[in-house]
Amino acid sequence: MQIDLQFSTISQAAIQKSQESRKILESRSGSGNDFLGWLQLPEEQSGHVQKYLEIAADLQKLEAVVMVGIGGSYLGFKCLYEALRPAVGPVHGPEILFAGHSLDGHYHQQLLEYLEQKDFGVVVISKSGTTTEPAIAFRLLWGLLQKKHGAAEASRRVCAITDEKKGTLRQSADSLGFHSAVIADDVGGRFSVLSPVGLIPAAIAGVDIYSLLQGSMEMCDRLRNDQSPENPAVQYSAYRNGLYEEGKKIEILVYYQHSLQYLAEWWKQLFGESEGKNGLGVFPASAGFTTDLHSLGQWIQQSERTIFQTILDVEEARSPVLAKQENDGDGLNYLAGKSVHDVNRVALQATRKAHGEGGVPSLRISVPRVDEFHLGQIFYFFEYACGVSAYALGVNPFDQPGVEDYKNSMFKMLGKPGY
Ligand code: PA5
Repeated sequence: MQIDLQFSTISQAAIQKSQESRKILESRSGSGNDFLGWLQLPEEQSGHVQKYLEIAADLQKLEAVVMVGIGGSYLGFKCLYEALRPAVGPVHGPEILFAGHSLDGHYHQQLLEYLEQKDFGVVVISKSGTTTEPAIAFRLLWGLLQKKHGAAEASRRVCAITDEKKGTLRQSADSLGFHSAVIADDVGGRFSVLSPVGLIPAAIAGVDIYSLLQGSMEMCDRLRNDQSPENPAVQYSAYRNGLYEEGKKIEILVYYQHSLQYLAEWWKQLFGESEGKNGLGVFPASAGFTTDLHSLGQWIQQSERTIFQTILDVEEARSPVLAKQENDGDGLNYLAGKSVHDVNRVALQATRKAHGEGGVPSLRISVPRVDEFHLGQIFYFFEYACGVSAYALGVNPFDQPGVEDYKNSMFKMLGKPGY
């Protein structure tokens, strides 16, 4: 994985500040330091892979598996699934479905109707075990499973991923005998993709979780042992904090492959919940080019100069090549011999140049290809960089006090006891 900066906009002061923040993270002396379990997940989780594969093998026998969760208990696996599944056509193994990631009644109604005819299982993921959206979805799905199979047989089709001791989901898992796995106390939701939260659903979907952990381990070694200003996490942190101080308030994560859409969604949660507090924080947005160049491109090129871009560049891809035609009726013979991917990468370079000339600084992160190993690298890179960046900004990266406000207001309106 490689990082390059188009402009030498990183100030020495910003680099020094981010180096200090990296030290705070590594010495575990910053705020939220009881939530640093994610730092060693790649190595620690390698010891659990066999168990996860055994759970996965059981659920893989079914026609469909519904992954129930929201926020950090949803986006990591959703990202892996969308990045690695075939772009079109059926997936190999059980059909993968999602629930509990919204309160969309129509969606859940159609899902239940569809599942009536399927032999399905459920992976329910909730660290707290009490989050409303997945709790509602699981109650509906568990009701259907019991109706179809009776409680004992239904429970063999469920895996609960939750806290070791706390929460109603843990109680249900233990009393009803679900498969289950533990989310460690010191791993927060948005930092949990490399825990059972991401690994068990990924194993069910046929993702090579060994390779995913290998990639994250490689990145872990690189970032944690490099004390130099060239540490890529320090550079990324310095880049974005330096620009923020200059009034660039919005960062757009730009991807050029449809399959990376949910990587951007995962990244938005990671940075949005970690940094957006105390009246501070870059607003994390995303765009899929070249598609969104035909919608957001105008705004990016010429609107308020408050934005900067982080571009994900994939170097290699299997891609069809344009052949030369006798009659150049569509006027595309000038592209003969080039693949669609070649054209996409030229679009990246050209757009970067145009946006740069229009006053939009950019940073490019490139990976050779989209596979488990490199996704593992990317996850760990952004998590580590997020910890460094939030400390450089001066906030606790590991809490999310603002998320409670809407919940309290909703519970009061719904008449939940105690609100
Ligand atoms: O990052 C976070 O902590 C949140 O986004 C949570 O993941 C999300 O609210 C779901 O919480 P839980 O896993 O407790 O159901």
